[in-house]
Amino acid sequence: MDDKTKLITAGRPHWRPAHPVNTPVERTSTILFPTYDDFIEGKRKITYGRLGTSSHRALEEAITALEGGLETRLAPSGLQACVAAILAFVEAGDTVLMSDGVYDPTRKFAEKFLKKFNVETIFFDPTIGADIDALITPKTKVVFAESPSSLTFEVHDLPAIAAVAHANGAKVIVDNTWSAGVYFKPLSHGADVSIQACTKYLSGHSDCLLGSITSCDETSAKKIFYSLLQLGSNVSADDAFLTLRGMRTLMARLPMHQETGLKLAKWLTKRPEVQRVLHPAIKQTPGHQFWKRDFTGSTGLFGVLLHPVETPGLKAFFNALRLFSMGFSWGGFESLCIEVDPEANRSAKPWQEEGPLLRIHAGLEAANDLITDLDTAFKAMEVARNDQIA
Ligand SMILES: Cc1ncc(COP(=O)(O)O)c(C=O)c1O
Repeated sequence: MDDKTKLITAGRPHWRPAHPVNTPVERTSTILFPTYDDFIEGKRKITYGRLGTSSHRALEEAITALEGGLETRLAPSGLQACVAAILAFVEAGDTVLMSDGVYDPTRKFAEKFLKKFNVETIFFDPTIGADIDALITPKTKVVFAESPSSLTFEVHDLPAIAAVAHANGAKVIVDNTWSAGVYFKPLSHGADVSIQACTKYLSGHSDCLLGSITSCDETSAKKIFYSLLQLGSNVSADDAFLTLRGMRTLMARLPMHQETGLKLAKWLTKRPEVQRVLHPAIKQTPGHQFWKRDFTGSTGLFGVLLHPVETPGLKAFFNALRLFSMGFSWGGFESLCIEVDPEANRSAKPWQEEGPLLRIHAGLEAANDLITDLDTAFKAMEVARNDQIA
């Protein structure tokens, strides 16, 4: 089935003779079993609120279908999905290989939290490919990548990385949030586990936080289940409902994010204020050839490296924006633009570019209006620059 069909049909209720079109919110802590037989049978299915209700099962089913996995478990945030997935596979004395380009809090979890439990993390250049062989040891239990990288958008050669990891007995976990599970299928490209911050495109309306962990084999699925259980994770049924509702229109929204993102990126490459646009679909972006080979599209999040500009110019740029807002998330209906700093979060391949780096999220507004907004902001930047010179 096409993703379009999966997103409409998966996780729907099947009761007879009539039922709501979408699985409704089932909020509860306590599940009651009318008979002893039901109690014994129920213990294998839905037992207690923290372990999920039909609202959670429905969303899990839909994400499993989208990612092409065996089983999905939900986490209360994208970050906790990353954390729980890593914890599922490591113990004291093990090593994690982590891409230098991961979401900063995932990196901090490895650097600060895993370290306390004697799990070492070695960071690798996102463009490493099969050369990851030089870093892998019998202690390596997890290779964690996010493709494309947060902030810098390098696309990883996942099949090459996974081949080396598997030859050495390590699991491969991929943060697949950028592609929304639509434009990239990590589980078909060598990953054992695919994670999404459903907070972004899946829920799509900037009104809830949620994470998903999809695995493709029973052993991994079991370990992930116990990891979440032992962390005491609980996902709100309301957030599970909102995410599944968002997924129903994902295939209507995502191509718009893609189209507008590409229009903005192309327009920005021609601006004199811009050094480089960091977008997987743009040739100059490291790993563009792997995006072409392994991905089927692009979403609305990308980076823009400006030529060096002094603070008053940058301030004038941001303060002149009317349609783009400054906000730390992305994947919702609204356009966002913030300044980011990868310098502090890179060790394998230091970020040494001069000039401010912007992260843009192309929302669902008309692309031409967004271009006018950016144009106005660049003009304000120029005025501030000239004022400084005068
Ligand atoms: C790539 C990526 N992964 C994970 C997360 C964490 O998601 P959440 O905010 O739901 O914890 C984010 C959040 O921005 C992200 O950008």
